[in-house]
Amino acid sequence: MNTALRAHAETDYAHELTALGAQDDRPRPPQWKLSPWAVTDYLLGKTLADGTVITPKYIGDRRTIEVAVSTLATDRALLLLGVPGTAKSWVSEHLAAAISGDSTLLVQGTAGTGEEAMRYGWNYARLIAEGPSDAALVPSPIMRAMREGRLCRVEELTRMPSDVQDTLITILSEKTLPVPELGREVLAAKGFNVIATANNRDRGVNELSSALQRRFNVVVLPLPATIDEEVAIVSQRVASMSKALSLPAQPPALQEIRRVVAIFRELRSGSTEDGKSKVKSPSGTLSTAEAISVVTSGLALAAHFGDGTLKAADIASSMVGAIVKDPVQDPVVFREYLETVVKERDGWKDLYRACRDQMK
Ligand SMILES: Nc1ncnc2c1ncn2[C@@H]1O[C@H](COP(=O)(O)OP(=O)(O)O)[C@@H](O)[C@H]1O
Ligand SMILES: [Mg+2]
Repeated sequence: MNTALRAHAETDYAHELTALGAQDDRPRPPQWKLSPWAVTDYLLGKTLADGTVITPKYIGDRRTIEVAVSTLATDRALLLLGVPGTAKSWVSEHLAAAISGDSTLLVQGTAGTGEEAMRYGWNYARLIAEGPSDAALVPSPIMRAMREGRLCRVEELTRMPSDVQDTLITILSEKTLPVPELGREVLAAKGFNVIATANNRDRGVNELSSALQRRFNVVVLPLPATIDEEVAIVSQRVASMSKALSLPAQPPALQEIRRVVAIFRELRSGSTEDGKSKVKSPSGTLSTAEAISVVTSGLALAAHFGDGTLKAADIASSMVGAIVKDPVQDPVVFREYLETVVKERDGWKDLYRACRDQMK
């Protein structure tokens, strides 16, 4: 039995990937486990001829995924761009799992990411004992992906210092990684490519240099266009997360999810759903991902301390936590929203009271 708290996509969805592979008769680019067509089906979901259900991973526009997948079959790299919580990391993991059968070659971008994380480092004990040698070299995930002809993921590319980002230029344009200490280079095998993600709302990040921009095709992952789409995303993710966490709770009523999503959308957009009144937005990004975690936390409360059915009081605590980030401004903003919008809405009194109690 798999006891990992969170399995990699290629493990978690192995049966789907196997079933897709078995019926996939379209051409596969070199080293790809599946054809671009089947990769797209894996991301968007479908029922196969043999009855296997491929669950949708990404809910949204098919064309967006087609463009992302076909980019990876070219010599250009893929940059997934969007505000936080638009499934950039999630889509990148599933693309790597479906295409290379391995989503673990990953570089996490931070202000402290160094060149060795992108190129290679050294095992210093061996370096000192033996001098530079193959055995002393510690390859980066990118170097391994190049050797093995797989996809490498680079998370939060724009958080890295610019000079570290720019190590990608040679790799992406020449498809080689020189190792001057050993007098050689590592040539990228067919199948190698890079999927990077970046937030377009990060403040104080390092812009992508224009030299690097030219090596990427940018695919923007949008916020869900409609409330129904966002409710569908949240319900589906909550269902699979509560299953993975073995939460002994009833699946939440759709209307409960709908209320959370409606509140998030209104606070995010600055106006009520009917467009009639303006509301102030709190400081945090109220993403779909946060709506998912509000409902999941609520379910955990209901399961362990309630009667197993999600109620307003279970949602209120994590919802207030997600909305009130700035201790000075956000309580004012949210209180005003509670009084002017939530309180007045038919059938929302329970949620109004529960949130107000949390705000005391
Ligand atoms: N359009 C969508 N379809 C499916 N899941 C989504 C969608 N948007 C957000 N999610 C969910 O939101 C969660 C967070 O996404 P993540 O990839 O961490 O966001 P990002 O990297 O863009 O900040 C994931 O669990 C994902 O399932
Ligand atoms: Mg991310």
